[in-house]
Amino acid sequence: MRTLPLLALVFTACATTDPMPAELPPTPADSHSAARPNEVRTTHLDLRLVLNFEGQFAEGSVTHTLHRQHSDAPFVVDTQGIEVLGVRDDNGDWLPHWFGAKDKQLGTPLTIGLRSNTKQVTIAYRTSPEAEAMQWLSPDQTEGGKAPFLFTQGQSILTRSWIPLQDTPAVRITWTAEIGAPTGLVPVMSASQRSVDGAVSRFVMDKAVPSYLIALACGNLVQRELGPRCAVWAEPATIELAASELADTETMVRSCEQLFGPYRWGRYDVLVLPPSFPFGGMENPCLTFATPTILAGDKSLVSLIAHELAHSWSGNLVTNATWRDFWLNEGFTVYLEDRIMEQVYGRDRAAMETALGMQDLANEVRALPAADQVLHIDLTGRHPDDAMTSVPYQKGAAFLRALEHAFGRPTFDAFLQRWFDQHAFQSVTTATFLTFLQQELLAKDAAKAKSIDVDGWVNGSGIPRDADVPTATLFAAVDQALASWRSGTAPKDLTTSGWVTQQWLRFLQGLGTAGKDRLADLDSAFGFTRSGNSEILCAWLVLAIQNDYRAVDRRLDLFLQTIGRRKFLKPIYEALLASADGKARAMAIYKKARPRYHAVSRRTLDALLGYQNPNG
Ligand code: BES
Ligand code: ZN
Repeated sequence: MRTLPLLALVFTACATTDPMPAELPPTPADSHSAARPNEVRTTHLDLRLVLNFEGQFAEGSVTHTLHRQHSDAPFVVDTQGIEVLGVRDDNGDWLPHWFGAKDKQLGTPLTIGLRSNTKQVTIAYRTSPEAEAMQWLSPDQTEGGKAPFLFTQGQSILTRSWIPLQDTPAVRITWTAEIGAPTGLVPVMSASQRSVDGAVSRFVMDKAVPSYLIALACGNLVQRELGPRCAVWAEPATIELAASELADTETMVRSCEQLFGPYRWGRYDVLVLPPSFPFGGMENPCLTFATPTILAGDKSLVSLIAHELAHSWSGNLVTNATWRDFWLNEGFTVYLEDRIMEQVYGRDRAAMETALGMQDLANEVRALPAADQVLHIDLTGRHPDDAMTSVPYQKGAAFLRALEHAFGRPTFDAFLQRWFDQHAFQSVTTATFLTFLQQELLAKDAAKAKSIDVDGWVNGSGIPRDADVPTATLFAAVDQALASWRSGTAPKDLTTSGWVTQQWLRFLQGLGTAGKDRLADLDSAFGFTRSGNSEILCAWLVLAIQNDYRAVDRRLDLFLQTIGRRKFLKPIYEALLASADGKARAMAIYKKARPRYHAVSRRTLDALLGYQNPNG
């Protein structure tokens, strides 16, 4: 066994002696975790890590405070690529431990034998430079270009690659952390409290959260207040733009509180990451992580903030207990997002965004196997991220809209508030929701209940007929322009003045296979290739590829080399793959760009492009 000077410090990890309830409610089976929380369960976690940017690893320890339901059962945690340096209990005794069989998707379970009086377990460990949750960026991958950067992405089952723990959303824990970072780099976490003491930053999360919501980032970061509870963090070069773009954040928090009850997390801050962040946003509690690609300059893409904020109710407060129940997180959140957008930016804007989302759903469902069109999806044997389609998002939200329309807004809003209040800080399954729905809404009005085919919505494929899409009145002008363009009107003669981003997106959706000459005309009239709006640019690049309009090539190359957001990369690479020549281009670009993508995007793109990693 290796002993490092660090371990002395590590094994003195403090004891928090929370009074322990005799019984914890049982957790449902989770096929994506080897943990056995009904036997032994972590209730609190204390993390002590030093970040090594040169070696691209974190080293230190994690101390689990345990609730032991079965006195003779061992403690099983999920790990992926973790090197264990030693395991001790709160009496200082070394504990026997062994790794189980490695699963490509789930990692390697670590079993720890407990003594009869063990109340806490400290695991000293080091992460692998390949840890899937962690992306270590070189300075040239940041805006400032001078300092390196690290961020983690836990959802769905990646936290196990940087913390050995029970990596199932059914287990909720409070946590504390001490992070050591090189001078000049600022660590931030998804925590309710943060304090700095020399080279060490301390964090406390005093609300019980699932493991996928523990997040860390570290880089040359500065903070700008946005309101009494809200601030934005970003690199110095981005902070001005970020602060003005996200100026409405506090208004959004108030709006969501009005609709769905108190915001229970204290602060709501946003961290704007470098462009390789693989998602649009991630709802890490108290500190949403966001892609810089939403900074369009005109607040046109801030519905993403409404979405991540809404997760403070649906997802973080009331959490999917397993990844099968993901639609309870995302479907509810898209519904809440729409309501916030309606309240803050008006009905026209919200209706357009909903309509665009439903259009995405319709397009995607056409290509999906029936089993993947189901809200309560069967994910056995699959990586949860592989089933991340618009079904849990848009179909989930459409289900709630159908309920709202059947029962009326006041009744449905009151129902949702009760759902959040009565399940606050709990992890719930689809069955729990269906029971609550039956008792608290359907049973109260049998006639209205009859109009909704709940089982069809939850367990059926396709988009049910009672799915309605709000009429987006501002799309009428777009559809008119499209019709006129189709019948031959030149782009510069179309009436487009005053159009907002969502109208342009609708316009781009309607162009289809126009041919490269007509695309060139559109480009000279509207400057799509130069667009600073990432959503518009992405839609345009896809069209350009489909129509072999090569004037975009330099922009396309740059976009793929710098942006790591999977939602953009996937359709662009897909479009390239459709032709032999495009396929060769895709492979050449991917080879260069791949090392700069996060593991989440690499997983998707490796599969899409049939890429075999020479390093395994
Ligand atoms: N929680 C998700 C991101 C996520 C889902 C990460 C599944 C890993 C696995 C986040 O809230 C989200 O949905 N982000 C969307 C944006 C949103 C506006 C639809 C994204 O990143 O595109
Ligand atoms: Zn979400």
